[in-house]
Amino acid sequence: VKWTDFERAAIQDIFSKIDYDVVGPAALSRCLVVYPWTQRYFSGFGNLYNAAAIKSNPKVAAHGRVVLQGLVQAVSNMDNIKAAFADLSVLHSEKLHVDPGNFKLLGDCLTIVIASQLGKDFTAEVQQAFQKFLNVVVASLQKQYY
Ligand code: HEM
Repeated sequence: VKWTDFERAAIQDIFSKIDYDVVGPAALSRCLVVYPWTQRYFSGFGNLYNAAAIKSNPKVAAHGRVVLQGLVQAVSNMDNIKAAFADLSVLHSEKLHVDPGNFKLLGDCLTIVIASQLGKDFTAEVQQAFQKFLNVVVASLQKQYY
């Protein structure tokens, strides 16, 4: 993957501006509400009965922060995301058996939450850079499925 200077700067800028403690939990809970079949992987998380329960579930919030820390690893390894995510890909495929299509769904929820946090700073050009970043993240997580 080749990144332009603008794309690198845009990704760095997004991750310097967002509040990790808000974005991670909000994106994961949104994914569990909007795409309810993704709840099946989190049966150990307790009450996911409705949107209010999901949004106030502390295990969902904690795991949302874990996912965001994973993305920070990708930002720190922009030129080698596939290698940085090799173990995570094995975990999600062989141990957790997460359907690989679900990565894109969580990515879409991340985009919506980040767009609402950044407001007018989330221009079309910034979204393009973020979408490219997500595409690489998703492809890297899916790599061990083949
Ligand atoms: C665990 C990242 C998408 C389900 C994890 C962990 C990370 C992570 C860093 C912790 C790994 C460890 O403990 O060593 C990500 C990233 C994603 C993503 C960056 C995409 C942007 C998904 C999706 C699902 C999922 C879409 C299911 C719909 C899980 C589950 C665990 C996990 C069930 C174990 C949770 C637990 O029991 O603590 N993920 N993940 N992940 N992930 Fe993901």
